[in-house]
This record gives sequence, structure tokens and C-alpha cells, in this order.
Amino acid sequence: MEFVRNAWYVAGWSSEFYNGLISVSILDEKIVMFRNSSGKVIALEDCCPHRFLPLSMGKLIGDDIQCGYHGITYNCNGECIRIPGQKKIQKTLMVPTYSVHEQHNIVWIWMGKNSMADTSKIFDMPQLSQSGWEVNQGEAMHLNSNYLYVAENLVDPAHVSFVHPSTLGSLASEDVPVEFETEGDVIVAWRWIRNSPPIGFFKEFPGYKKNVDRWHYYYLHLPSIAVIDFGSIDSKENIKENQRHLGTQLFALHFLTPVSSDQTIDRWMHLRNVAVGDQKATAKINSMFRVTFAEDKKILEAIQKQTNDKQKQNSVHVSIDKGSIAYRRKIKELIRSETSF
Ligand code: FES
Ligand SMILES: [Fe+2]
Repeated sequence: MEFVRNAWYVAGWSSEFYNGLISVSILDEKIVMFRNSSGKVIALEDCCPHRFLPLSMGKLIGDDIQCGYHGITYNCNGECIRIPGQKKIQKTLMVPTYSVHEQHNIVWIWMGKNSMADTSKIFDMPQLSQSGWEVNQGEAMHLNSNYLYVAENLVDPAHVSFVHPSTLGSLASEDVPVEFETEGDVIVAWRWIRNSPPIGFFKEFPGYKKNVDRWHYYYLHLPSIAVIDFGSIDSKENIKENQRHLGTQLFALHFLTPVSSDQTIDRWMHLRNVAVGDQKATAKINSMFRVTFAEDKKILEAIQKQTNDKQKQNSVHVSIDKGSIAYRRKIKELIRSETSF
């Protein structure tokens, strides 16, 4: 058992769901999803209890799914409503359902017991609804990597100087120590690089030419959502750590959906307080992110391949690893607490 079940995961952007059947895999479970005639997204186990054909191979008739093998039909609650060739409906023909909630154009799915699904626990941040922020939904990046490798990369400011030299990193940041703390279910790792030349993003937006103070805060929300707050401000302003909103601030959000033990989908988006409403800036920033995240993907998939070799299970820790160590410890605790009753 390697997944946290009692959590809301992203099943997809709202735009991915329509009035037709799609099959998705989350935590190694196959799920059939569709948008019903009232616009609500429905999720059922993608398996007909009769002979186990995936229901996604069947047909949507109104708001019901007709299995593609013998035509047994189920409603949105997973209840059987028709068995061709017999009048009596057997109660045992029942398909498990999942709780789904749509918020900020994102479709969330609860992977634990339905009775524990609490929509107030779904990730949110005030800037998603505030004016003065450009909110842009990006893409879904598929990685052949376990979600733990992807998540720990997102609480790791130290890799950016080496993996992302053209967009996020620079020589000035190589040896700056990483700070770290845990705030409940959020692990934070950060560092400031004071009085140094601007990096790629901020040379472009808003166009800093002189030295800046810049920051990188990585917030990893258990089990697998990352908020990266990075930004810059003219060094002359000499701002304090809690005055980052005075500068140019960009949030990159990563919603990681574990697909299986060696596959993850990273749905990413960004929010920014610069070039608000400027679609050309959005396209440019997204293209920079595409370059950046492809750099991470290359590293993470190579690591997954190496660690498929059983000899390479225990890595050697150094001081930049505090965030990742805390993250893995917390995930283990969560999984243990879910399986120990
Ligand atoms: S397998 Fe679905 S109706 Fe037979
Ligand atoms: Fe990265």
C-alpha cells in the first residue's frame, strides 16, 4: 500500500469532462467518469460486476451506463436498473461510486470512503478568487515516475540552479542554504537570493534590469499538491520575508494525481500579479513553464528507471533534503494511520 486514500485528488480540469464516458486511472483504480445531463460529473468504478467488462466500453444512455457486453444498465448512483432478459433486478449488481466536486474549474475526486468526503477540505487559496491576479490553467504532464519522486522535487529549491538554468536558476543561487519548516499538513522549504541579477522569468516580466531580491517558497500540501511562490523585487526596496506581495509574484500550482506506482499526472497552472489580462504574457510564461517542467520530467523519469533496480533503494541524504525527508515521513504516517484499524 503506497497511496494516501483519504484525500481529494484532481481527476481532471473541468474542460476534460463532457457528456460521454471516459476512463481514468487514479491510485491504481480504474474509474469511469462523465458529465450527466445536469452538468454534474459522475464517477463509478470502471467495471461491470457481471463479468467485469470496463463500463467505459459501454454506452451512455441519458444519465445511465449500459454495459457493452450484455446490456446491464446502471444509474449515476451505481444501482442496476435493467437486466436484459429478466424482470427481477438483483441488488448485488451494484457499482461503487466516488464523491466528486467541481471547484475553480477543477474536478476533484475523493479516493477514500464516501462518508468521509468533506468538500471544505479541498485545496483553495484566496488568490484564485481575488481581483488583481491572472489565473491560468495549464496542462497535464504525464510522467513515468512514482508520485513521491515528483512531489519531493516540488519541495526542493536546491535543484533549480542545476536543472533549470535558463528559467528559474542562476549561479548566484547554487550555494544559498535552504530553510525548512512543517506547518501542519504543509511542508515549506524556501530560500532568498538577495541582491543578484534577475532570472529568466523576471527579466521578461516585468523586465527587471538591475539587481533584485528574489525568493522561492515551496509549499507541499499533503499528500500531493504543491504551491510554488516565486518572485522578485528591486533590491533597493529591501522588503521583509512577509512582504512578497509588494514584488512581482508568480505562483505555480502542481496537482499531482498518482496513476499507478510508476506513473503520475502533474496538472499545473499559474497565478500572477504581473501582466494581468495580457494573453501574450500568458502564452510566453506557459512556454517557459513547459521548458522548465520538461527538464524535471527528464530527471524524474531517469530516477524512476534507476530505482526500479532493487539495489538502489536507500539514497544518501544531505542537508538540502530536509523537506523531502519530512514529506516521506508524513506520507508514511498517513498511510499507516489509514491502514491501522
Ligand atoms: S459484463 Fe456487463 S453486462 Fe455482462
Ligand atoms: Fe524543477
